[in-house]
Amino acid sequence: MTMKLWIVLCLALLWLEIQNGACQQIKRKKDVGENRARPGGKRVRPLRVRDGGGKGQSLLIQVLNKGRFLRLGESTAMAPGKTMELRCKGNSIGWSYPTYLDTFNDSRLSIKQSDKYSQLILTSPTAADTGPYSCWVIVCDGMECEKDHERYYGSYIYFTDKDNLFVPSAIHFEIVYLRPDRTAVVPCRVTDPQANVSLHREVPPQELTLNSTLVTYDPTKGFVLQNPSPDHQGVFYCKAVAKGTPQLSSKYQLLYVEVPTGPPFLSLESSPASVRGGDNINVTCTVLGEPEVDVSFAWSYPGQDHRPVHIQTSWRLVNRGIGHVTRVSQSVMTVEDMETTDFGNYVCKAKNQQGETIVTINIISK
Ligand SMILES: *[C@@H]1O[C@H](CO)[C@@H](O)[C@H](O)[C@H]1NC(C)=O
Ligand SMILES: *[C@@H]1O[C@H](CO)[C@@H](O)[C@H](O)[C@H]1NC(C)=O
Ligand SMILES: *[C@@H]1O[C@H](CO)[C@@H](O)[C@H](O)[C@H]1NC(C)=O
Ligand SMILES: *[C@@H]1O[C@H](CO)[C@@H](O)[C@H](O)[C@H]1NC(C)=O
Repeated sequence: MTMKLWIVLCLALLWLEIQNGACQQIKRKKDVGENRARPGGKRVRPLRVRDGGGKGQSLLIQVLNKGRFLRLGESTAMAPGKTMELRCKGNSIGWSYPTYLDTFNDSRLSIKQSDKYSQLILTSPTAADTGPYSCWVIVCDGMECEKDHERYYGSYIYFTDKDNLFVPSAIHFEIVYLRPDRTAVVPCRVTDPQANVSLHREVPPQELTLNSTLVTYDPTKGFVLQNPSPDHQGVFYCKAVAKGTPQLSSKYQLLYVEVPTGPPFLSLESSPASVRGGDNINVTCTVLGEPEVDVSFAWSYPGQDHRPVHIQTSWRLVNRGIGHVTRVSQSVMTVEDMETTDFGNYVCKAKNQQGETIVTINIISK
């Protein structure tokens, strides 16, 4: 319809012998993002892309069939199953795509750079491939290359699948940690941006009402809890309604955590408390910390390098009071048949991302 209108308008303008340029100008504006090969027509100017345009038009383009191109905006919905080809103009281009595709080292994804553009192809996309795709120009100064932040283009691509309204997750029962000073996200993302999504508590059955300041829904993230409190704990699931029957997401266990961040908080003890030659001892190094923070242990002890010991490291989650969850990480060193040379300082070193804590216990012969 609109196409016809433009042609009629152009013809009318030509008829009036108004400058040809004016007509082309209008035509070009309409065709932005599309470069149709017109049968039997005049030579069509190739799609012109403005340079320097992080703020301007996206250089991220989807190749449609029959050599047509679509410039991708902030988000795009596509049909699953059909091979997706994206291009980004430039002779040195970087890409990012959902980490899911790397985790599973997916052979469906391929990236090729030619001298004019880079091409990303994803064959048989599914609902699980829904996520952010972006490309950027890489600028090099001698050997040093970096991302040109001005020329970075991204699009959130939904592979809308009516049988999978929620982006499938490899984890069927996910734990979401709530902290007093941070936003928390219940990551039930959808494949159809039009779907209506709600958040429900399992027991007692209850829908969490959206409140623009406290709980919001973002189809690219999930439910965002601005100011989580212990009241938000429990088992939750999301419900999405599009055209067909409502669908339920996997389940999320929301746990409230109140442990300060910082280097590990350590304690060290030996069992039994008093030791004599020939005894067996366990020296236990314990760290209380945040549920998802990994702790690594290192030991030094008198018989190091020449005496066999046994070291066992483990961790578990412990509910402390009203749903306050703590991760207890432990490293236990067992020394059998204590000899004179085994008495002395046992040092446990525990490390997390925030730092390292060292604790020493002196084991003396009774
Ligand atoms: C990923 O796949 C490539 C090609 O199939 C293979 O060479 C590579 O070793 C794989 N990497 C991992 C981590 O599985
Ligand atoms: C959201 O919740 C807060 C606290 O319960 C309340 O003060 C506020 O009025 C609510 N806002 C809306 C839009 O319901
Ligand atoms: C989503 O909810 C709105 C408001 O409640 C409603 O108007 C709309 O029809 C719903 N959309 C679908 C797909 O159910
Ligand atoms: C040391 O720990 C092991 C395993 O927990 C236990 O079987 C053993 O009795 C402990 N030994 C002492 C001396 O506490």
